Amino acid sequence: MEEDRRSRLAPDEIRALWTSHASEHGLDPASSWSDLRAIELEIAAISTYLEAGGDVLDAGCGTGLSTAHYAALPGVQTLGIDYIPEMIELARTRREQLPEDVRARVDFRVGDVLGLDLPDASFDRVVSTRVVINLAKPHEQRRAVAELARVLRPGGLLLLSEATVQGWTKLNDLRADWGLPAIGVPSFNLYLDQDEVIDFAVSELGLEPLGIEDFASSYYVATRVLKPLLARSAAGEIDAADPKAEFNRWASLLPAAGDYGTQKLFVFRRPL
Ligand SMILES: C[S@@+](CC[C@H](N)C(=O)[O-])C[C@H]1O[C@@H](n2cnc3c(N)ncnc32)[C@H](O)[C@@H]1O
Repeated sequence: MEEDRRSRLAPDEIRALWTSHASEHGLDPASSWSDLRAIELEIAAISTYLEAGGDVLDAGCGTGLSTAHYAALPGVQTLGIDYIPEMIELARTRREQLPEDVRARVDFRVGDVLGLDLPDASFDRVVSTRVVINLAKPHEQRRAVAELARVLRPGGLLLLSEATVQGWTKLNDLRADWGLPAIGVPSFNLYLDQDEVIDFAVSELGLEPLGIEDFASSYYVATRVLKPLLARSAAGEIDAADPKAEFNRWASLLPAAGDYGTQKLFVFRRPL
């Protein structure tokens, strides 16, 4: 997380963007990411770490799509927080539509990952999906990761699903091999350097690294390399970037292989 790196949009512009996403897309997954299949893979990867149940914080929960899935797991009690009031309003609407037993195990409130209004050591699992990359500068990203670690109980897990420079580079190198142009970094994102994240979490926060899961590597290769190549050779108009295509459903069923996924899941444990 070098100091000279920053997202192209400033913090207030990023905030405005998420506010407009909430009003434009409502409860549709596109309010957070239009790639529903990738979100499903992310939820599945994270859910394996929630099997023990306990108190789960979903920090930067958006409209609560993933939070609602976590709350449906046995023994899980969830709190979703997001700094956009319109996102939390939508999440509360989603909550009302959940079965009564799940509804009782999920709550939402407005909150900022740069300063969580939550006590130290109050959650067994802290989840954050595609949130830290929305912080414009490396020092803000570090502050957020430190806040997430602060509210984790000893023995608890920090689960960060974030876009990495390494995954993005590998994917674009593979695309280049096949004559495809590089996929850019969105203007509102600052992708994480995975080595720096681990170094910071271990040396500054005292967390134990349990690994990085490339849960979407095959999906990225199938949808961001194979699919555009197939679309090129197909007769007629095919939108290779359409995340709702049947091809994406098939791609999401592939076992993860390789390290070509931009999005990765970092797993850390707070020592006892
Ligand atoms: C890509 S969306 C992901 C939403 C959700 N985690 C999901 O998986 O669907 C990023 C979310 O992070 C939220 N966010 C960005 N910066 C934040 C901050 N400083 N504190 C809390 N939430 C933040 C945005 O409002 C947005 O809802």
